[in-house]
Amino acid sequence: MIDVVGLHKSFNGQEVLKGVGFRVEKGEVFTVIGGSGQGKSVLLKHLLGLIKPDKGHVYVDGTDIAAVTGEELYKARDRFGYLFQGGALFDSMTIFDNVAFPLQEKTKMKAAEIKDRAEAELAKVGLSGMGHKFPAEVSGGMKKRAAFARVLVMNPEIVLFDEPTTGLDPVLVDSVHRLIVWGRENYGYTAVVVSHEIPEIFDISDRVGMLDGGVMLQVGTPGEIKGSDNPRVRRFVRGESEGAAQF
Ligand SMILES: Nc1ncnc2c1ncn2[C@@H]1O[C@H](COP(=O)(O)OP(=O)(O)OP(=O)(O)O)[C@@H](O)[C@H]1O
Ligand SMILES: [Mg+2]
Repeated sequence: MIDVVGLHKSFNGQEVLKGVGFRVEKGEVFTVIGGSGQGKSVLLKHLLGLIKPDKGHVYVDGTDIAAVTGEELYKARDRFGYLFQGGALFDSMTIFDNVAFPLQEKTKMKAAEIKDRAEAELAKVGLSGMGHKFPAEVSGGMKKRAAFARVLVMNPEIVLFDEPTTGLDPVLVDSVHRLIVWGRENYGYTAVVVSHEIPEIFDISDRVGMLDGGVMLQVGTPGEIKGSDNPRVRRFVRGESEGAAQF
């Protein structure tokens, strides 16, 4: 479904991506791991066309996101939902308004329909009756779930998660991981996740790719990555790298 081919990107002479290639199959949870500053967030932004590569392609069902602009790019981007690092809600809006916002902006639904949809979505992530609260009035885990509901309300085909669990305690990490899988089962999306939750993330990933030194050093099943004989992958997966414990 997503085919990344020979992606190169430099910023001010600093080569971040040096020919990244990998493929994500429809319906899978594909996780990108790698140390801090290796270009994981930059890579996700290429998938959305928010950053254009110096060279290379990002095919989503044959459309090259790296090559299209304007209307065509917006149309391609509408297939995606994304939870960015920090997962920000609008602080000045209630939880309900946060979830209703994309429906108001991007659809022609009537107010009553939007209300039903947003409330149904909040119920699915366990936030029934919480819609009237502001982000500052709910816990970190609830904020994550509200941000997730805001993504799901648009029923995206592909969801990108950039470190969705940063700053959460282990119990909440587990609940966000279960939400990602639950969403895949119930909405049928394809997920690309950037995570430093090792080893927990292996439990919910179909395949894992390690981004290192500007390339996908290794792509494989969680078992293959855990049992890798590449010394850099082994070191990272065992948590001996600084990248595994960053915030
Ligand atoms: N818009 C930009 N302009 C200039 N440099 C950038 C830009 N975006 C990212 N970079 C640089 O690219 C490199 C990779 O950044 P990126 O945010 O992708 O790392 P990361 O792997 O996501 O790290 P972390 O795990 O800390 O989130 C960094 O050196 C960063 O400073
Ligand atoms: Mg990042």
